[in-house]
Amino acid sequence: MSETLENLLKETRQFPPPAALAAEANVKADAYAEADADRLAFWERQARRLAWAQDWEQVLDWSNPPFAKWFVGGRLNVAYNCLDRHVEAGLGDRVAIHWEGEPGDTRTITYADLHRMTCQAANALTGLGVTAGDRVAIYLPMIPEAAVAMLACARIGATHSVVFGGFSADALSSRIADASAKVVITADGGFRRGKPSALKPTVDEAVSRSGSVEHVLVVRRTGEEVAWSDRDHWWHETVEQASPEHTAEPFDAEHPLFILYTSGTTAKPKGILHTTGGYLTQTAYTAHAVFDLKPETDVYWCTADIGWVTGHSYIVYGPLANGATQVMYEGTPDTPHKGRVWEIVDRYGVTILYTAPTLIRTMMKWGEDIPAGFDLSSLRLLGSVGEPINPEAWMWYRQHVGRGELPIVDTWWQTETGAIMISPLPGVTATKPGSAMTPLPGISADVVDDQGQSVPNGGGGYLVLREPWPSMLRTIWGDDNRFVETYWSRFDGMYFAGDGAKKDADGHVWLLGRVDDVMLVSGHNISTTEVESALVSHPSVAEAAVVGATDPTTGQAIVAFAIPRGTADVSGDAGEALIADLRNHVAKTLGPIAKPRQIMLVAELPKTRSGKIMRRLLRDVAENRSLGDVTTLQDSSVMELISSGMKGGK
Ligand code: WT7
Repeated sequence: MSETLENLLKETRQFPPPAALAAEANVKADAYAEADADRLAFWERQARRLAWAQDWEQVLDWSNPPFAKWFVGGRLNVAYNCLDRHVEAGLGDRVAIHWEGEPGDTRTITYADLHRMTCQAANALTGLGVTAGDRVAIYLPMIPEAAVAMLACARIGATHSVVFGGFSADALSSRIADASAKVVITADGGFRRGKPSALKPTVDEAVSRSGSVEHVLVVRRTGEEVAWSDRDHWWHETVEQASPEHTAEPFDAEHPLFILYTSGTTAKPKGILHTTGGYLTQTAYTAHAVFDLKPETDVYWCTADIGWVTGHSYIVYGPLANGATQVMYEGTPDTPHKGRVWEIVDRYGVTILYTAPTLIRTMMKWGEDIPAGFDLSSLRLLGSVGEPINPEAWMWYRQHVGRGELPIVDTWWQTETGAIMISPLPGVTATKPGSAMTPLPGISADVVDDQGQSVPNGGGGYLVLREPWPSMLRTIWGDDNRFVETYWSRFDGMYFAGDGAKKDADGHVWLLGRVDDVMLVSGHNISTTEVESALVSHPSVAEAAVVGATDPTTGQAIVAFAIPRGTADVSGDAGEALIADLRNHVAKTLGPIAKPRQIMLVAELPKTRSGKIMRRLLRDVAENRSLGDVTTLQDSSVMELISSGMKGGK
């Protein structure tokens, strides 16, 4: 590892958990030793948190790696675990979802309501000929019916494939085709940025291209006019008329629960397959352990969309399996004003907030006066997920959202892992800003070198998982070879996550971004994340993205794109002066080797709809190539702006 990485890791601040939280925490320090003593017995105990119709005969069958079977022979129903058992325990009146639409309309849905809606949807799907093992595509906005649709599939053993509502007809039809979905559940549209945004036309186009779809179930949300055909059915005329009586049948622990396609950095999306018993065990356990979820008193809010794995595991399955009360919000954080997120926290008394670094940095850009205008005193725990969180953003989050005292859990995981893998335990871990800290109890993550050897503390390399875990992906849908090839071939007997990582002197894990985001400059490994982090630590920079561009002398050269803070003067000479200042600032922070060759001041960065910066496109710009595929961009006009600015000079 290069010296520059050492510099990034000179972050030495450390924050112990608040004493009160630690004293009452769901999971205490002994969990690590307990899991180390017997990992499978540990997971077996976590599985007991669920209701099983039939016990398993074997905790893990790893006789045919990398194809794992967890809780072999066990049978359970996921929807029963998320709904019926809470209602049967007398908790039917507990609020499951405080839902808020973007226009400001609200719905309060209790566990009894959610149970009834799910039973009706299960009966309606059965009526449309859906049986266990069939695939159902779900293409919905963030409305309660999205959760209901997923739970109804789970209830009847249909495998859902949720496709993010912002995806194009192309993306939707290829996902429908790959899974041969029989039914699509959608809506006329949803509300985004203050106006209705249609979904049904995209479904019509996608369905016309794929032969497998027999029925389309349509929720009325916006009330806008939609085209109609024989295969279409209104949700309110089918589901809401169906019987609310439905007995959930148990399924095998390895029954396919869902397929979720990972977002477009590669050519063909991978259909990540998750199954039933192990997935629910680990999502339920991690929601309990990492968010310290107290279902009787907490109001939990995960700001993700249901179209991403975060929404699957930490809006639907994990929280509901625990009987939690949560907030669900339909729209964007700046509609109708930039305080919307804090207004929602204030209104519902949110106690646990789980969000993404990109949102935190956006909030930083908008300024701390905005959260300061709301009562955030209900909050007791903050979470982060999706990409490395730079220490600046981490500190801002703690300071301006967390009153300088709340624990932050930076949770590392992936669509493929199904649930959180590396994270602080909020009542145990003394956190370091920017580090995901330690593998959770029962998880064996490690950082290895090129040869697959565990690196010593202070060393860097690749993040791997050494042992199978309950919520691991079982395969790539329809492509076992690609599953083996992608994740299990780089290192013998280990799962390769595709992330670069570093162990600090204390053995704590720092994620350094995807391995393809690691630049090689004059033979030095420099992560895009560390340079971005350095740029964002400058008072004039709100957000930054860094790419490695091919360079004749240094192999790769560092090219940075930075969004200045609102107050920074970037006109003419002032802009040039700021660029010079920033280059020096990075050199000073990380060492001269990390000094960017070029810095572009830009107004926006190209992001996927899930908020990930599309460095591939920035690399195209930096290397003067024509742009590659922009279909997964949230706003494709961003690239035109950046490209034209680039031609205009540095
Ligand atoms: C990739 C997985 C996990 C749900 C949302 C993303 C990056 C995720 C962190 C974190 C550093 C992180 C990794 C990972 N990532 N969380 N806390 N710190 N990096 O799911 O789309 O499957 O992306 O996101 O690079 O491999 P995904």
